[in-house]
Amino acid sequence: MVAVSKPRGTRDFTPDEMERRRAVEKKMRQVFESYGYREIATPTMEHMELFTMKSGEGIIDETYSFHDKSGRMLALRPELTAPTMRFYMEKMRMSPKPLKVYYFGNCFRYDRPQKGRYREFWQMGCELIGTDKPEAIAELIATAYHVLKGTGLKDVKLRVGDLELLRSSIKKLGVESPEIMRLIDKSDYEGIEKMIEGKEGADEFMEFLNCRDFNSLGKFFDENDVERIGSVLEWLSAFGVPYVLDTSIARGLDYYRGIVFEIDAPSLGAEKQLCGGGEYSLLPILGGDDTPTSGFALGFDRIIIALEKEGYEFPLPPEIVYIHPIGDEMRKEAVSLATELRGKGIKVEMDLMRRSMQKSLQYADRIGAKVAIIMGPDEWAKGMVTLKNMETGEQKEVEREEISKFL
Ligand code: HAM
Repeated sequence: MVAVSKPRGTRDFTPDEMERRRAVEKKMRQVFESYGYREIATPTMEHMELFTMKSGEGIIDETYSFHDKSGRMLALRPELTAPTMRFYMEKMRMSPKPLKVYYFGNCFRYDRPQKGRYREFWQMGCELIGTDKPEAIAELIATAYHVLKGTGLKDVKLRVGDLELLRSSIKKLGVESPEIMRLIDKSDYEGIEKMIEGKEGADEFMEFLNCRDFNSLGKFFDENDVERIGSVLEWLSAFGVPYVLDTSIARGLDYYRGIVFEIDAPSLGAEKQLCGGGEYSLLPILGGDDTPTSGFALGFDRIIIALEKEGYEFPLPPEIVYIHPIGDEMRKEAVSLATELRGKGIKVEMDLMRRSMQKSLQYADRIGAKVAIIMGPDEWAKGMVTLKNMETGEQKEVEREEISKFL
């Protein structure tokens, strides 16, 4: 056992795992960039107030916060929307609109850890600033959907809702909003029924929560009320994105309003939500105007788990070439050959343990080298090396200048 272990809910990643993660990350970035989003980065820690202002009780309870040496209350970021809005207010207000930014970073929540839920996890997400046209919101949702599909995931389910409709239904019922929103967010239907028992309109409210068909919304609302969500859904079809209407999306964070959405990987069970987002308002409480804002974040770790569950074949990393110098006088020559090949973009490892040829080639095999370059002094004097195909065992002499042709 090691004397000190990692904190609960955090993880280490092996080189194999990191290669998989980087490969998926790269694909996701490509899709964000194909929609015109550009990457930003913000600090891992922020002033605690940034999150207490509008993120909602849940997230505050879950936030890692501490006093620094001069007594400031700081927090490890639980998410990246509030930091992005702070950054926007400080530096990006003058940028042309719509402003499209994306981010990839670790977030921290003091959650109860389980598979797919960690205390340190990674989000890739984006914010769209300056437009709330229905086609803009539909494009935002399409971005989320296509980023997920672009990773190679097959089974994802998009649900779209409208918080205005949900909040006005709750208002009609006359119940305390934050508590019922929390129950709805957790899909705690028993809790909801208990809370609204005996209220006028309780049955209709439950029926509304279960409504999954746009045309049936007319039962509960006027045409005007449902026009916006109707329009966004229509644009979503134009983007070729399959969706279902879900009137019961509450979202855990307090800053949301208007159109909201979530994307799940049904294969994941309890922690199946891969993505959450929608329209929100944070700028006014940061001292800004009410420029429209919307965005979403994808749970990167859950995407990896979902891909593994679907049996996705992660791309193999580029092959490595191994150099074995025979005898001490060849070691410096091996260094210059390795440097030359690395300069050509080839991944090269050379013997750094002064092993015997047999042990050295065993090692080459274990690290997955497909080709070993064996450098003997007599051959080298003639400008030649031996290439060994590690799969077939076949060997051939080639000229030093020709090596890269064979790799
Ligand atoms: P969120 O729904 O709290 O939204 O988080 C987004 C995603 O992060 C979740 O759907 C989930 O996949 C992942 N996630 C959350 N908590 C954990 C955890 N403890 N372990 C692993 N994955 C987790 C937001 O954070 C908003 N800022 C999204 C947004 C951006 N809204 C507007 N713009």
